[in-house]
Amino acid sequence: MGRYVLGVAGGSGAPYMRRVLEGLMTAGHEVHGIFSEAGRKVCGLEAGLMLTGKPEIDETRVLEWLGDPAATRGTLRLYALNDFEAPIASGSFKTDGMVVVPCSMGALGRIAQGIGSNLLERAADVTVKERRRLLLVPREMPLSLIHLRNMVAAAESGIEIIPAMPGFYHNPRSVQDIVDSVAGRVLDRLGIDAPFLKRWTGPVPPEFTAWEDR
Ligand SMILES: Cc1cc2nc3c(=O)[nH]c(=O)nc-3n(C[C@H](O)[C@H](O)[C@H](O)COP(=O)(O)O)c2cc1C
Repeated sequence: MGRYVLGVAGGSGAPYMRRVLEGLMTAGHEVHGIFSEAGRKVCGLEAGLMLTGKPEIDETRVLEWLGDPAATRGTLRLYALNDFEAPIASGSFKTDGMVVVPCSMGALGRIAQGIGSNLLERAADVTVKERRRLLLVPREMPLSLIHLRNMVAAAESGIEIIPAMPGFYHNPRSVQDIVDSVAGRVLDRLGIDAPFLKRWTGPVPPEFTAWEDR
């Protein structure tokens, strides 16, 4: 099975993180996770996931929060944000890639510039230098010129920017449908087939596109 690093920074979008983590774990992968301080705060506010920053407590909390027994097919290991001795701080620890979801514009800027001021950013820097796949899922609105330039710098280093920008062509019926459309595309980019991703197979009949019954 694969080994992936999951960074959770303080952008809005904890539900995306939940679905991506579920997708990785249900597929039986090994997940190495780091939450920034702001990432923990956003998870509490947006998804009721209350974390302490202490990996030994938070691992259990995240697994309980996921709730789905299928998610225990994979393994989850969390690290403290300042734990620069963690395996994922070194390129010699092989991984199949990293995703930062959600990604704050701050984390995006620091990662784009190679600033490894905490373990999340260091693990991202390692992923880039080892030429492994790094996906960032930023969310901000509107985007400043600084944000846009940082995204260009990231893309020039081979980092994939997958903005949390849901489409509506699949006719979502719920917030979960909208979340799934983003999380499913993120998992796609990691090479993981998400059963919940509705793929475009052509237009749906007009009766399914009415908004009144939502
Ligand atoms: C509820 C909440 C939502 C936020 N949403 C965003 C966001 O969508 N995008 C963003 O770039 N920052 C957002 N922020 C601000 C970041 O969390 C803040 O800039 C923080 O310093 C980022 O730190 P990090 O990069 O270490 O995670 C949000 C903060 C809070 C508390």
